[in-house]
Amino acid sequence: MPKDSKATTIPKQSGKAGKKAAAQAVVPAPAPFLHTPESLPAPALAGRDFLSNLDTSAAELRVVMDTAHSMRRGEWRGVKPLSGLSMALVFEKASLRTRTTFDVGMYQLGGHAITLSNAEIGLGTRERVSDVARNLERWVDGVMGRVYLQQTLHELADHASIPIINGLSDMLHPSQLLADYQTIEQEFGTDLTGKRVVYIGDGNNLANSHIHMAILTGTDVTIVTPVGYEPNGAVLMDAVKRGATVTLTNDLGAIEGADVLYTDVWISMGQEAEADIRRRAFQGYQVTPQMLDTLAPNGIFLHCLPAHYGEETVPEATEHPKSRVFDQAENRLHAQKALMYHLLGGAKPRW
Ligand code: CP
Ligand code: NVA
Repeated sequence: MPKDSKATTIPKQSGKAGKKAAAQAVVPAPAPFLHTPESLPAPALAGRDFLSNLDTSAAELRVVMDTAHSMRRGEWRGVKPLSGLSMALVFEKASLRTRTTFDVGMYQLGGHAITLSNAEIGLGTRERVSDVARNLERWVDGVMGRVYLQQTLHELADHASIPIINGLSDMLHPSQLLADYQTIEQEFGTDLTGKRVVYIGDGNNLANSHIHMAILTGTDVTIVTPVGYEPNGAVLMDAVKRGATVTLTNDLGAIEGADVLYTDVWISMGQEAEADIRRRAFQGYQVTPQMLDTLAPNGIFLHCLPAHYGEETVPEATEHPKSRVFDQAENRLHAQKALMYHLLGGAKPRW
């Protein structure tokens, strides 16, 4: 039993208290349909990079999401479309979800993943980023990079002929948003036009990627941040130019009636030196169970995790009936498997 099981009530989403429901989520019931190698959809993004959600069109996103839903239903059990292919997972920063799901995802699709920490490869320090790219492309079929600077991903992409996937940068976290929108679609269906998604907290990589998803899906996205912590100005301007419904405010009243309330840490990886200043700036922006009670009747709470409890949220919000954070975490696996299939699916093993 989890050590903290006496301190908090663990809901149906996870843990031994909800073993049955959790097991159903992780290992789906017998699939209504099982793919064979012949019935698989054509890879929709073959050979492309995925550095931003805007690297797919709305129609391509739809294909990836449909595949992710199908994978979650267990319809891909037994097919190994990435057999003989390998992916390098490059980490300049820590990770639980991204590392595990890309690795397990490659395994489940028949491929292989190798994790390279920055202590090993010294991206840009031990070796030029361009040289790392030109080495990796000789051995593996794709690279997932979790990096400090978005620019590093562009440099990798510029010098490698194989797909480069953004596994989080200072600017964006697009693979996370695939899982987030899969979770939202599970709740509200695939037409999300006008659904109110409210992001509260730091205008960081997650906030920027949420704005991108407003462009692609037609959701009505409100970013609630304190003054001085707004999302990237160019990302906002671009969204406005493209006709997306995006609102920027510091009014917490925007949360009322929202279909989705989303938060992320106030102190992202690499910002530890600003911790005290940030904790002060974000006072009042904490997601509480009381806040969740003001959402739309079928509204949900999402958090990409890890959570810094006592800062952007509290354990009681994670355990609230409107919370879907562990379904969301599960969907990292399905959504990224779908993404990897569509990027790498057409590649021939090189050996
Ligand atoms: N949400 C997310 O990216 O989690 P990790 O940092 O654990 O990968
Ligand atoms: N904004 C956070 C997300 C972690 C998944 C960070 O960049 O550290």
